[in-house]
Amino acid sequence: MTIYFFSQLVLNWYHENGRKNLPWQINKTLYTVWISEIMLQQTKVKSVIPYFKKFILNFPNIKSINDSNVDKILHLWSGLGYYSRARNIYKSAQIIKKKHQGIFPSHFSDVIKLPGIGRSTAGAILSLSLNFFYPILDGNVKRILIRYNGIIGYLQDRTIEKTLWNIIKIITPVHNTGKFNQAMMDIGSKICLPKQPKCNVCPLNQKCIARLEENWEKYPIKKIKKTCPKRISWFIIIEFKNTFWVEKNITNKLWNNLFCFPRFDNEILALNWIKEKKINTKKNEKITPFSHTFSHFILDIHPILIKLSCMSNFYEKNNIGLWYNLQNPQNIGLPRPVQKIIEMFKKNALKRKEYEKQ
Ligand code: ADE
Ligand code: SF4
Repeated sequence: MTIYFFSQLVLNWYHENGRKNLPWQINKTLYTVWISEIMLQQTKVKSVIPYFKKFILNFPNIKSINDSNVDKILHLWSGLGYYSRARNIYKSAQIIKKKHQGIFPSHFSDVIKLPGIGRSTAGAILSLSLNFFYPILDGNVKRILIRYNGIIGYLQDRTIEKTLWNIIKIITPVHNTGKFNQAMMDIGSKICLPKQPKCNVCPLNQKCIARLEENWEKYPIKKIKKTCPKRISWFIIIEFKNTFWVEKNITNKLWNNLFCFPRFDNEILALNWIKEKKINTKKNEKITPFSHTFSHFILDIHPILIKLSCMSNFYEKNNIGLWYNLQNPQNIGLPRPVQKIIEMFKKNALKRKEYEKQ
């Protein structure tokens, strides 16, 4: 009785308030739902929307990914973060071509075998696109269940996770599974917020233990945050008339396959490199340092700008570097901090143009 009660409340809420017009909810296919669910892992709906639209325009189907290369995928992913997701999409497309005749599989056991797809994402893909009966359990759903049932524990705890899977398996309705799953994610991101949940407009507020105890802060128990470690990186920006020397990361775990300015762990290494390369410059200009926050550390970036008077003043014999051209940018992936620096040059170049026009 109470089980029916829960899903019915959620579904009623969905009909009135659920999101139904997001770009990946229109003309849904397994393919588009797959791409959107991968993008929505660790990223908010609002940030995903423009990336999703651009991605589907450039890669309308799996074949277009197979015909392309990982650099082009990373190029479209630039700025969205967690780049292993993009690499996994590329790998998955290859597997789908080989094992599933190029068609995204609709069996749970095949979907969950694809890289980057766990139990919850596989369930989300199949329930949202085909209304198959599979429960989901992402961070939002976990928070709702912990609060509603008054479960004492940490979000990351394995035994709590098991308990929550058991609960969600029971309360997910066999019919309208897709709508129910979407509604749970919507309630989690719009109402049952991590801080200050909006219990007064929540469809579950009558029997929710956290609400009855007036103590949502207890659910889930928060781990004491470790201070985020800092790392330092020196970027050497070699510029000639709005083209920049960038190199593909092939050895580093961070930004694997993305293109970055030559970078070093400290100033001495950076300056030595400049000396070794015998780059003929009048002066090296330091640009104001800035930080970039990752999930598990903060990177302090110290850029050094070298403006070449002639391109041949810098010559690097390797096949991982290229001159990135602002006017005619190549299809490559750039990490967010590199994008930021390049954006700054773009703005300055525009300003200069306007100034020269006057
Ligand atoms: N997070 C993961 N998948 C989502 C979806 N389909 N809608 C909203 N948030 C999500
Ligand atoms: Fe979350 Fe409040 Fe709804 Fe309970 S009543 S599920 S705490 S928003």
